[in-house]
Amino acid sequence: MKVVFVCLGNICRSPMAEAVFRKLVEDQGLSHKITIDSAATSSWEKGNPVHHGTRDRLAKEGISVEGMYSRQLSQQDLDADYLIGMDQSNIDNIRKFVGPQYEGKIQLLLDFTDDSDEIADPWYTGDFDKTYEDVLKGCVGILRHIQAQL
Ligand code: 4NP
Repeated sequence: MKVVFVCLGNICRSPMAEAVFRKLVEDQGLSHKITIDSAATSSWEKGNPVHHGTRDRLAKEGISVEGMYSRQLSQQDLDADYLIGMDQSNIDNIRKFVGPQYEGKIQLLLDFTDDSDEIADPWYTGDFDKTYEDVLKGCVGILRHIQAQL
């Protein structure tokens, strides 16, 4: 099983989701069954480290983002079982990139929760706490969903 989290810059939300989900998967002893990655729809932040807001929020949870750098979505991601966008514009951009045969893999992270909403971009809101809460909810939801298929 492979999950790729996708956002606009791959420095705020999708690396947060990658790191949080990796921790949840490790805690469940499922690391050998689930491959986890993240990517940007844009090339704007290519090679840049995770935003300090995400880094600092995750540090409070004991989660490190060291060694993670922004990269753009690429052909290598197309073998993923799930391409998970944070907001509707991420979904639209993933669709433009991958073509219609991948439609079944593309979902919003919060589709795996009770409210199928968007994850606000803290690059603009500055609210990394709210983003963390939503990312955690979504990651718990997608893990529950995947566990039911393992
Ligand atoms: P992200 O946030 O998509 O959650 O990583 C952003 C990061 C960078 C930019 C926009 C959003 N930017 O305009 O460079």
